[in-house]
Formats: sequence, C-alpha cells, structure tokens
Amino acid sequence: MSVETGEGDESMAGEPIAPTSHQEQARRHLWMHFSRMGAYDRDHEIPVIVRGEGCHVYDEHGKRYLDGLSALFCVNIGHGRADVAQAGADQAKELGFFTNWSYAHPRAIELATRIAGLAPGDLNRVFFTSGGSEAVESAIKLVRQYHKLTGHPNKTKLIAREIAYHGTSLGALTATGITSLRQPFEPLTPGGCHVPNTNTYRLPPGFGEESLAEAVRERILFEGPDTVAAVIMEPVQNAGGCFTPPPGYWQRVRRICDELDVLLISDEVICSWGRLGEWFGAQRYDYQPDVITTAKGITSAYAPMGAMIVSDRIAEPFLEGAASFAHGFTFAGHPISCAVAMANIDVLEHEGILDNVRSNAPGFRAMLESLRDIPIVGDVRGDGYFQAIELVKDRETRESFDDDESEWLLRGYLSGELYRRGLICRADDRGDPVVQLSPPLVAGPAEFEEIESVLRPTLEDAWAQVRRRRG
Ligand SMILES: Cc1ncc(COP(=O)(O)O)c(C=O)c1O
Repeated sequence: MSVETGEGDESMAGEPIAPTSHQEQARRHLWMHFSRMGAYDRDHEIPVIVRGEGCHVYDEHGKRYLDGLSALFCVNIGHGRADVAQAGADQAKELGFFTNWSYAHPRAIELATRIAGLAPGDLNRVFFTSGGSEAVESAIKLVRQYHKLTGHPNKTKLIAREIAYHGTSLGALTATGITSLRQPFEPLTPGGCHVPNTNTYRLPPGFGEESLAEAVRERILFEGPDTVAAVIMEPVQNAGGCFTPPPGYWQRVRRICDELDVLLISDEVICSWGRLGEWFGAQRYDYQPDVITTAKGITSAYAPMGAMIVSDRIAEPFLEGAASFAHGFTFAGHPISCAVAMANIDVLEHEGILDNVRSNAPGFRAMLESLRDIPIVGDVRGDGYFQAIELVKDRETRESFDDDESEWLLRGYLSGELYRRGLICRADDRGDPVVQLSPPLVAGPAEFEEIESVLRPTLEDAWAQVRRRRG
C-alpha cells in the first residue's frame, strides 16, 4: 500500500473555507475553552466581544456590556488603554523577542527588579511564565527540586484546598480540588492532598472558623511531614465563591508550615495587582509566603504573562555551583509582555488604583449586601473588588439547589439573562451556586449602580421562577 504525502499533494489540504459570518466560523472552527460547544446554534449566539473601553465592552452588534468580571479577573486597569498597548508596540519595534533561557533582556531585568520591590519580605527572585497554570506548575516543580537539593528527596506532596482552582496543566490539576476537572484526565501527577477550604457559610462538621487551619496540620501529619513539599492556597479562594480567610487563618497556616518544614505557596493569580486593594494578597492578610504565583493583572492582560516570585532562602540552593532549576518556557518573560507589565504597573501606581479599590470596596460590598432582601440571596462574601453572592433555595435552612436545579438556574436562566441585560459576571456551580463579581479596579459608584440595576431585577425574577417551579 502506498500513501501519497508531502508538498504539492492537494488531497492533503483541508477544504477551502467559504467566507461566512463570525458566528458560523466560530461554531465551525473555534474550540472555546471550558465551553459546551453544542449549546450554540442559530438561535443561541456565541458572544463575540469586539472592543472595550474602561469598565465596558461591546459585542459584534455594537451592544454595550458592563464587564463585571474584568474579562476573567484580568483587566485590572480597565479596557482600551492605548498607552499600555503602545508600550508593547514600542518594545516590539526595539526587540520583538528574545528568550530568558541563558539570556536576559532589559525589560525582563527591569520588571523582575520592580516586582521584587513590590513583593512582601524577601521575595526577591522572579521567574516569568506565560500565564497562571504555568506559574503554578513552576512552583510545584520548584518546591520538589528545592527539597531534593536540600536533602529531603521524599518531600513531594502538595496540600491544597477542596474546590480550589489552581490551573489546568497536569501538575497544577494535582492542586486543583474540583473533581469534575480532574476526573477526565486521571491519572494525574501524584501527591495532591486536599483539606477543607474556608467556606464559613457552610463549615464542615466538627470545624469552627478558628480550627480550619488545623486541618492543614492534621493532613500533613497524616501524610508524614517528610513527604510533604508545600501548601498551596489562594489568599481568597475563587472557586466556590470568594471564600475569605477567618481572622488569624493565614498566620496559623504559616506557623504550621514552619513547624513541619513545609513551604507555603500563595497562589495569587487573581488576588494580586490591586484586586484586594494591595499589590499582593499576602500583604492584605499580613503573611509571608515562600513563593507567590501570579498572572492576569500583572499586565492587566494586555499581553499574556505570569510569574513565580520566590524568596531568597528558596532560591539560594539554585544559585550555587552547577545547580539550576531544570525548567523553562520559550515565551516566558517575553519582552512585549514585560514592557506591557511595566506600563500596567505605572498605571496602577500613578493613577491611585489601589486607593480606588480601598476607598470604593465598602460601597461595592454595601450594594451587594442590599440585595439580601431577595430571598434567593443566601450569603454575600469576598474582599476588595472580588465578591460573590451565594444563591439558596431556603435562606433559613441554607438549603442549596440540587444538581438539576442548579443546571436550570445557572445555565438555563441566570448566565444568559444577565448577559442579555448587559452585565458580564460569573454564575458558577463548581461549589454551591454563586454569582461572582470582580469589576475592573477603576470602577466606582456609577458602575456599582449599573451592576445593581441588572442584578436586582434578574435575581428577583430568578426567585419568582424558583417559587413557580416549586408550585
Ligand atoms: C488561583 C488560580 N491559579 C491558577 C490559575 C490558572 O491560570 P491560567 O488560566 O492563566 O493558566 C487561575 C486561573 O483562573 C487561578 O485563578
């Protein structure tokens, strides 16, 4: 049998693609992430967002939306900043690309130095990545190699929290505590151990707010401290709906890590660059991690970038003799991303954006709290510009929706309806059903009013439908 291959073999080429609308092309060719592609058809359009300005974006029909999620917790300085875009364009003209493998370039050096100056304590060493999963993946590999270099080769396991999202690459999935995201890809990298998160609205049986950190100690002891490399947690846990730490939680976790010789990774892919009103979430809650992972707001997503910021102590064994961190990504620390990150940090610094969050977060929260008169609103929680509303069937008993009800409520109604009414936010049921809001950090009272003008009637209608379905 002979198979013809190679150049000039027309039969190997795909069918020519006829020009069609973006909708048709997207349905036919674009593989959207975490999306039920089968949900889109001629009657259910794919949302195609074409431009943005400040806290608003516009779809292909020219309809305006309030971006209440900062394009997935990313666009901290808001959309449409021509000056930040220009910084990337200028850099592309000067040095479009060079790698950080065995070479350095000025923008990576300057950005690493600037980040070291902003990061807490002795977190002075910056390893760039292309995004958040790569940052987490890098941190997992770093802590494993660190322990090998320092004479503890069996310290490989990770302690993370239930329902936490730490990314999708196979190593990061080990830390991710969401069964539905893990199961399709098992077996995963071994070593992921999960403990209760800080959902104080639904404390696990036998736990009080003050004992939640003890679950970390118990799990490390159960696994054996000589097998545990690190604890990885977000300052405020995103998945499940903005679980904030009870007072003293982080200080206890830090103490437990120190006692048992376990490293502490603060996964700040969302909770840094002003999201909680500080540069880093660790500063907001006053603890000192060994490693911070970050992404998203580092460039306000005007270019893709992530980073792992490492303490001098953890970096030290990698700096001696022939040692090196056996790890890297071609595009990490891309000069364009570095230039954009520098321009983004200029905006955050010079335009008082962290102050804006600190002074307006109470108003944002008060607006959300005011929705508690709608019976479907069970809990309101979060910090800074990172807030969630948990939806319940019965506020007195805190009874949640079952899987079918949640499917109907979130996918059958709320997600589409909020979008139709002009608000982009997240209706999520990776834990119990929540609506999450995380607007650009330049938002203020006018935007909160606009959010409320959509959220209130939509939640009222949702509650009316819940009652009707119950009969
Ligand atoms: C806490 C956390 N870690 C890691 C990630 C993964 O980041 P990315 O999607 O950039 O790979 C995310 C993404 O949302 C995240 O929220």
